[in-house]
Order: sequence, then C-alpha cells, then structure tokens
Amino acid sequence: MPSTVLVGAQWGDEGKGKITDLIASDYDYVVRYQGGNNAGHTVIHGDKKLALHLMPSGVMYDHAVPVIGNGVVVDPGVLIKEMAMLEAEGISCKNLKISCDAHVIMPYHKDLDGADEKRLGEHKIGTTKRGIGPCYQDKVARKGIRIQDLMDEKIFRLKVETALAQKNPILKNIYGLHTYTVDEICEEYLPYARILKQYMAETAQLLNEAVREDKSILFEGAQGTLLDIDHGTYPYVTSSSCCAGGACTGTGVGPKAIDRVLGIQKAYVTRVGGGPFPTEQRYPEDGGTGEEAMVGETLCEVGHEFGVTTGRKRRCGWFDAVIARYAAEVNGLTDVALTKLDVLSAFDTIKVCVAYECDGKTYDYFPMQQSVLFHAKPVYEELPGWKGVDITECRTFEELPENAQRYVEYIEEVAGVPVTIIAVGPDREQTIMRGWDR
Ligand code: GDP
Ligand code: IMO
Ligand code: MG
Repeated sequence: MPSTVLVGAQWGDEGKGKITDLIASDYDYVVRYQGGNNAGHTVIHGDKKLALHLMPSGVMYDHAVPVIGNGVVVDPGVLIKEMAMLEAEGISCKNLKISCDAHVIMPYHKDLDGADEKRLGEHKIGTTKRGIGPCYQDKVARKGIRIQDLMDEKIFRLKVETALAQKNPILKNIYGLHTYTVDEICEEYLPYARILKQYMAETAQLLNEAVREDKSILFEGAQGTLLDIDHGTYPYVTSSSCCAGGACTGTGVGPKAIDRVLGIQKAYVTRVGGGPFPTEQRYPEDGGTGEEAMVGETLCEVGHEFGVTTGRKRRCGWFDAVIARYAAEVNGLTDVALTKLDVLSAFDTIKVCVAYECDGKTYDYFPMQQSVLFHAKPVYEELPGWKGVDITECRTFEELPENAQRYVEYIEEVAGVPVTIIAVGPDREQTIMRGWDR
C-alpha cells in the first residue's frame, strides 16, 4: 500500500492540517516526524475549529493510528492538555504511539528560547518561544532527555541533575533568570510520565512492521520547506528537518517505503516571524507602497492570517514561483495541493513572482546567498482574476471560473508539478479532487 509524505512547500501554515485531515482516512498510520508544539494545524470538527500542535491530524479518524515519531520534540504538559481537549470533543486518543526516542522539552528550554530572542533584539528569529530550538540543541549536543528517560524515575533524576549543572549557571549568570532544582522539575514531570507511559512505543519498529505488512503511512510534516534547518532561509528557520527527507530520519522508515510526496502550497504566501520574504506586501513605513499595503491587508483579512500557535499576524504576499520550484526540487514533490484559492476572489488581477532581481542580475532559481534573498526584487507576471465570484461551493475543476482554472494551470506550469488537490475553503468538503492518487 502506498505511503505519502505531506510537506509544507512555503514558510508554514499552508493548510497542512486540513489536507492531512482530508486524506488521512485512506491511511493506516499518520505520523509526525519533526517539530513540536511550534506547529499549529487547523482541522474542522463539526462546526468547531480545532488547533492541533503535537497530535497528528489523522487522530480525527478512529482507524488511523496517530504516531509521534523520534524526530519530534515533545512538551509533555502540552500533549496531555491537547489529548484532554480532543477527548472532550469526543475524539479518542487511545491509539496514540509516542516514540521512546523523541526528545522532551524541559522548562529551561522554554526560558532559554525566550531569553535568547530578547538578547538578539532586532535580529531575533521571531520564534514561537516553545523551547524548540534549545531542545534540538541539546539533542544534537547529545545532552537531551528522551521520552524513555522520562519514564524511568532514577534515570530521569540523574539526567535532570546533569542538565541543571549546565543550565542553571547559564540561566542565572548569562540571562539573570531563575534556576531550577531537580525536585521541582520532577514534581512537574513525573506525573506526566505516569499519564504518557501507556503510549510510549518503539515506533520505528512498529512502522517498519507496518511497511512489511503492506499498510499505508501518511507522514505529516510541520512547518515548511523554507523553515527547514538545512534548506530554509537560515538562520531564520526552525531547528528541524521539515523537508520530505526528514520523514525518514524522523521515523526510522527508509526512503524506499515512500511512494508520493505531496507539497502543500497556499495560492499566495505567508510567513510568521523574521527573515527574508521577497513577495511580502509591506506597509509604506516598512518600505512598501500604498497598493502593497492594501494587498497585504486584504490577504490577511480575507485569509484570516493569524498564527494558530501564537496569534501573531502573518506577513502576506503574492505566490512565489521561485520558491515553488525550489520546494519541488528539495522535496521531490510528485503532487501539489493548492490551498486557499478562494481568498484570491478578492482581487481584480493576481500577481505571481517568476524571478528575482538583485544587483542587475536575474535569478529564476532560489539564490544561495541570504544577502541576495534579502535584497531580491520580485519580477511579477500579472494574471486576470475572478473578482467577486464565490468559488467556495465549487467541487470540480470545471466549475471554477475560467481565470481560476488558468491560475491553477499557470502554477502547475511554473513549478512543474501537477496540482491534484485544490482547497476552496477550510472545511473538508470545500475541496476539488483533481487526480490525487496516493
Ligand atoms: P497548517 O499549519 O499548514 O496546518 O495551516 P494552519 O492551520 O496554521 O493555517 C491554515 C488556515 O487556513 C487554517 O485556519 C485553515 O482552517 C484555513 N484553510 C485551509 N485551507 C483553506 C482554504 O482552502 N480556504 C480558506 N479560506 N481557508 C483555508
Ligand atoms: P506550522 O506547522 C509558521 C516559525 C516561527 C519562527 C521560526 C522559528 O503550523 O506550519 P521556532 O519556534 O520553531 O524555533 O521558530 O519558525 N515557525 C512557524 N511558522 N508555521 C509553523 O508551523 C511554524 N513553526 C515555527 O514563527 O519564524
Ligand atoms: Mg500552522
């Protein structure tokens, strides 16, 4: 049975939650492979919007086993709250499996995330302050605490003691923050261990057995290609491998088990936090024009572009074919799901960035140097819109206004990947299936 990686093709918030929820019913396992509760994936349940941060969006279906893979960093308190929220909505979490190798976000990780951002001042990354970066730092430094350590009180105490010997002086002497005692941390974390113990599993073994038994797996990416630690707009990135390759390292399943790579692209682009964003529509005080400000405001208002995790207003801009091509390459995309096409019904004409210009040079590929990306001026092509036509009820490609069809075809052409799913609204039903085949 075919398995799929679902990956954000921009800077996150492309609508991964909606598309995962939409196609998850076809899979036996839905697996998160990286990131943590910096993610905010929206799924619609009845007439309610639910925000998922750690739980794979496939939890909405009883038959699909939700798995938190080894590449994820887990804040146990947040996970327990999320499970309680889901249970209160009548959604069972009983099948959840958490990798014994996933790393645990500790209280000092969150403190250090916030403190380091403060230290960076105007150069800050604009993180979600959930402790993601510091937790991955400890993982790579081989000083992390894993789920399996949390489950063994003796080992946990020892690891916390060792960690605090290093963290407390940093917290106190460098950042002037409060320090922790081993008892204090154990008092908070050991009750979490008692609740989560039943869900801990050897997930790599579990998933490889599933592959052998011809079961299907959906790997649900968090964040997006341009936030990837290696392939994103470093250092304005998150600390994990968001790209499709991360699905292997973050779960222990080999690349041969993956059949399709579905890239989620918004019909325009958004970004939360700092860093370069060539097609951003800025306010005049930030260097934009009056027209840009209006476009940015419209995208933000019509698209409800506010962060699910932090509530921050998302930066908005036109679709960028340069990054779409880049995402197609670094992920090996076989398919694209184009989301939020309905939001573009607000415009007379629609721009697509096809190249960048910087210092007299034209780039139709993603520039290697950050300085180029920071100063890149987008080269736009303008396409006719379908202003005022409500497309949220369209369920086939042919029902879309002709100009909307042309827009989709144009995006397929510039990125070189077929658009096999089109979302025209937040609900599961507000979708056009156009040849998606897992
Ligand atoms: P994710 O992080 O990639 O899962 O995306 P988010 O959930 O953070 O942000 C996507 C937002 O867009 C959510 O509020 C979704 O409910 C909403 N959404 C998803 N697809 C569509 C769509 O096609 N049209 C509209 N109008 N909203 C959508
Ligand atoms: P989903 O899965 C959008 C951004 C933060 C910041 C940078 C680093 O909902 O698409 P971090 O806290 O990860 O160290 O922050 O990454 N960021 C996201 N932006 N969507 C997300 O997740 C994000 N997760 C992190 O805003 O710029
Ligand atoms: Mg999100």
